[in-house]
Amino acid sequence: KKQATWGGRFSEGAADLMVRIGESVSFDHRLAPFDVQGSKAQAGMLAHVGLITRDECQAIQSGLDEILSRIEAGVFEWDPALEDVHMNIEQALTAEVPAAAKLHTARSRNDQVATDMRLWFKSASSEIENSLAAVIAALVDLADKTSEVIIPGYTHLQRAQPVSMAHHLLAYVEMFDRDRTAIAGVKKQANVCPLGSGAIAGTTLPIDREFVARELGFVDAGGEPQITQNSMDAVSDRDTFIAFASACATIGVHLSRLSEDFILWSSAEFGFVRLPDAFTTGSSLMPQKKNPDAFELIRGKSARLNGNLQMLLTMVKGLPLTYNRDLQEDKPPVFDCFDQVTLMLDTVAACLPGVKAQPESCAAAVADPLLLATDVVDYLVNKGVPFRKAHHVVGALVSLSEKLDVPLNELPFEEARQVHEALEEDWTNVFNLQQALAAREKPGMPGPEQVAARIAYWRKQASK
Ligand code: ARG
Repeated sequence: KKQATWGGRFSEGAADLMVRIGESVSFDHRLAPFDVQGSKAQAGMLAHVGLITRDECQAIQSGLDEILSRIEAGVFEWDPALEDVHMNIEQALTAEVPAAAKLHTARSRNDQVATDMRLWFKSASSEIENSLAAVIAALVDLADKTSEVIIPGYTHLQRAQPVSMAHHLLAYVEMFDRDRTAIAGVKKQANVCPLGSGAIAGTTLPIDREFVARELGFVDAGGEPQITQNSMDAVSDRDTFIAFASACATIGVHLSRLSEDFILWSSAEFGFVRLPDAFTTGSSLMPQKKNPDAFELIRGKSARLNGNLQMLLTMVKGLPLTYNRDLQEDKPPVFDCFDQVTLMLDTVAACLPGVKAQPESCAAAVADPLLLATDVVDYLVNKGVPFRKAHHVVGALVSLSEKLDVPLNELPFEEARQVHEALEEDWTNVFNLQQALAAREKPGMPGPEQVAARIAYWRKQASK
């Protein structure tokens, strides 16, 4: 049995259950590339200030490279008795390079793991940014293809007013663009180096914090090194974990709402779209079924993302400063956030190009003249009728059409005229969908020119 590095104080090794409950290597082994990067920079700094020799630094750094290539080749043996990725790598290095015994000089696993995670957040955030960009591009493409398709827009899931399918899809682009901003914020927040904070109170040794921060790319736009300013905060702060999980949970909520729309739209009751076979499944019993499983799973997984955020907030809230071992539990939720959110985004980006709008069903749904009742109100307002009055008048017209059992736009003119004298024979011209949309050309509205301009805007953003 391998002895823990702190063996000096202990007369017996850890119980098997202590090993099982204590190990994190089963999940933190994925930090290996960042741990090696951090340790190489640490060695470089130690040599820079003269705490180790250039030769020792060289031996440590090439030893670490060699270990990382073994890890990447899948031939490195992880030992749970050594707890975590940090101890596993350090022990393997020590077995080969005597100078490795100096690597942990002026460092604790507390500032080490905080550094590894900040490097991981920067890399994970960049990957999420790429996945978000792919979803945005796919939505913009689909919007472009469906800009002529008019559908009812809904409030309370009741038909409200007509919109283009493109305008509806572009609403999601706005959400995912805000998600991009949130993720960029996480990246910025992660971009501060905790190394040198030690276990809690720094070190008496003559280290150079700026040097190691610069080595690891913890620099601002002007190249200035960014370092944490309070050693106690640095080793116990998990705000970036929470910000990351929160950004992922918000992406999940957006994906879940998008999924819900596609699930509804692909039902026989709506029939607005057909989903690609490759992202649906059949039933083991009912031969006719084509189920929107991909979107349902995304809707389900978004619950997991909410749970991950909740877990982190709850775990941190009662902890006294500074490091407590509870904090080892911080990694599974953020790794899960990353794995799930990228899978969800990539699935949507791959599925959207195969989604086909069904123009006939959309036309049938949008033929409902009540969708333009609000435009009749605007017609009356244009004739000088006060809005509240106009609203009431159109309400009366709707009720009359129900009573006579004729569609609103087919009310006999004499009947309609009796409701209000401002109605003229041309009032039924309001019931023209193209015209109704073309009348909405202020910024943010569903007018075709506005929608085309927004599509062009997003395409230009993507090409930057
Ligand atoms: N595996 C540990 C974690 O993730 C590393 C830090 C250990 N620190 C300690 N004081 N035991 O939290």
